[in-house]
Amino acid sequence: MRITRSLGAFPLALVLVPAALAAQPLTRPETEKKIDALLAQMTLEEKVGQLNQYSSAFDVTGPAPSAGHQKVMYDQIRQGLVGSVLNVTGAEATRKMQQLAVENTRLKIPMIFGLDVIHGYRTIFPTPLGETASWDMAAIEQSARVGATEAAAAGLHWTFGPMVDIARDARWGRIMEGAGEDPYLGAQAAAARVRGFQGKDLAALDTIAACAKHYAAYGFAEAGRDYNTVDISEQTLRNVVLPPFKAAAEAGVATFMNSFNEIGGIPSTGSVHLQRDILKGEWGFQGFVVSDWGSIGEMIPHGYSENLEHAAQQALTAGSDMDMESRAYVGHLAALVKAGKVDVKLVDDAVRRVLRVKFALGLFDDPYRYSDVAREKQALANPAHAVAARDVARKSIVLLKNEGGLLPLDKATRTIAVVGPLAADKDAPLGNWRAQAVTGSAVSLLEGIQAAVPSSTRVVHAEGVKLVTGERNFMARSTYNTTDRSGIPAAVEAARSADVVVVAIGEDAFQSGEGRSQADIGFKGLQEELLKAVFEVNRKTVVVLMTGRPITLGWTGENVPAIVEAWHGGSQAGHAIADVLFGDYNPSGKLPVAFPRVVGQLPMTYARKNTGRPGPEPGVTWSSYTDVPNDPLYPFGFGLSYTSFAYSEPKLSAAEIGRDGSLRVAVTVTNGGQRAGVEVAQLFVRDLVGSVTRPIKELKGFQKVELQPGQSRDVTFTLKASDLAFYTAAGKWEAEPGAFKVYVGGNSRDVKEAGFLLK
Ligand code: NOJ
Repeated sequence: MRITRSLGAFPLALVLVPAALAAQPLTRPETEKKIDALLAQMTLEEKVGQLNQYSSAFDVTGPAPSAGHQKVMYDQIRQGLVGSVLNVTGAEATRKMQQLAVENTRLKIPMIFGLDVIHGYRTIFPTPLGETASWDMAAIEQSARVGATEAAAAGLHWTFGPMVDIARDARWGRIMEGAGEDPYLGAQAAAARVRGFQGKDLAALDTIAACAKHYAAYGFAEAGRDYNTVDISEQTLRNVVLPPFKAAAEAGVATFMNSFNEIGGIPSTGSVHLQRDILKGEWGFQGFVVSDWGSIGEMIPHGYSENLEHAAQQALTAGSDMDMESRAYVGHLAALVKAGKVDVKLVDDAVRRVLRVKFALGLFDDPYRYSDVAREKQALANPAHAVAARDVARKSIVLLKNEGGLLPLDKATRTIAVVGPLAADKDAPLGNWRAQAVTGSAVSLLEGIQAAVPSSTRVVHAEGVKLVTGERNFMARSTYNTTDRSGIPAAVEAARSADVVVVAIGEDAFQSGEGRSQADIGFKGLQEELLKAVFEVNRKTVVVLMTGRPITLGWTGENVPAIVEAWHGGSQAGHAIADVLFGDYNPSGKLPVAFPRVVGQLPMTYARKNTGRPGPEPGVTWSSYTDVPNDPLYPFGFGLSYTSFAYSEPKLSAAEIGRDGSLRVAVTVTNGGQRAGVEVAQLFVRDLVGSVTRPIKELKGFQKVELQPGQSRDVTFTLKASDLAFYTAAGKWEAEPGAFKVYVGGNSRDVKEAGFLLK
């Protein structure tokens, strides 16, 4: 039987073609000439205006601007002192806002409108971390494509995504916005998202400019506390943090956003090294860098700038082109130039970069081209988008545990109890950073299950306990400490008389995301208590986790037979989870980040260093904890299927390769079970000795293969010597000769190995 439902069963009314061709370059001779001509006409104040970005009051995604700010903003737009507005959206609203600039200013330069379109605009896809668990770059690209199509139709030109920060500490709430712990997987996902948002041509009416953020190392915040200090080596920066940014740049990303954190004492916003030397120098990036919200002004509390004027000078000099909400440039840049403290050439360069993107978007041809009410209506109601969201959501689901083959469930089960605070929740699945999703518009798990089973199957629901107390929204500080146990008895009764219990627990939508760091990442409130009570009366219990981040499972991980990580799965989450629970879709997701056993293990990664005392040895003096094992509960790359896959020993096409050589790593993957399924075969290497020490494993390739029951397939990876390159002690990106190990398997832990020599 074939389980993986084909597109035939899920027809895509609108074919979302991935952008196969390379993106158009941002710099074109004709455009550069037009920019020259414009720059020659612009006053210094008008130039500074292009570098000034405000948030509209429509939505606020940072410390709120003062009450009088809107009026100031409108006045300044009319004077040509605003180049961009964020958080304005909708065909009508953006048209009106654009009119203010185009009809009132001398040079009629259009503004560029940006919004955080992170995992969808109206149709919401799984959170980026969840999507990355699909290891399916076409699916990830398609998700960004749908987001861009909807956003562009609503008058937007620009998204502040993809977020490409490598994160190895699940305490950090923003881990949900990225691609997880690994630079290789992160680089693939970054490029896929850029292709999805930008398509082949920024001027197309269904593409938007993308933004690689947060440059850089924001995910390495000490203790996982948001905005916190980062202190990493140049090697870690180059080998771990930067690869996804570089991949985004190579994919043609139009903009970068810098980060709130400092690295080694220098705030990223003021970092010449990051922005001028690496990004615009080494990588030749031609687009522009926007600061993060207020990050120029935040160099004052960092202790790096004396005042806002000083901050403006440092930021512009360091290569931060556009000022988001610090008012530092609009307030001080012209005076700094006049005083000889900032070279006007740097201002011209920044303006040129901004204008380039505006030209590429076609805004000079027609500043209102994206603000089309009819197209907006049509795009937001496109049923193909929901189909795509369901497809990506089920590909993102990771089966963590399935003892005794409890899953998949039989649709003809007499009674299914659906329990837990997230079971009927139509909002949590939308996750954080949900752009213009309608609150409470997701398909809940309960609805998904009800829709999947025949009318003869009884579905009983009991919430049991609440997860959130207080407000739930982007700016609210919600709490998760309910003490109300009154719903538990009803949940226990529902579970007692059911044939199987599905318990939906985990995190609320806004529990992860910006400013949502947690020192403890276990189940909040009374969720575990509810689960234990239910489990006590019915061992046939399946836990469906909805989380933004990896969490510690504790008792649940040890006792509950079946656990499914569904993330915050987006608008179609309930249907997608039901597809997996009933086996209409055989789960194929693999973790893009490890699940630790306890929070004290963080930060952690499979790609760790060996240390001088790796152990394990008898005795205590080796690098280990005395209370828990070193390894995670579920490692990077892990995910089960309803079938099982076996790997042969890897065969290498050569025992040695030269500096320009390559070799093939071949492995046979066999589906040893009774169902068709999809496996993600993963290739890792280890460079045994380096001029700087190397990780014990590094992902270098992966392939998704679909196998029928009993079917075997040869999977071949090509490994080039250049794939072994890293940032060496000599400060060069190159491969060093010596012995390497190769590992192949279905996750980063369970692998078969071979070896070769790089001459
Ligand atoms: C601050 C966040 O760090 C950034 O990711 C986001 O794009 C901006 N606010 C705008 O909302």
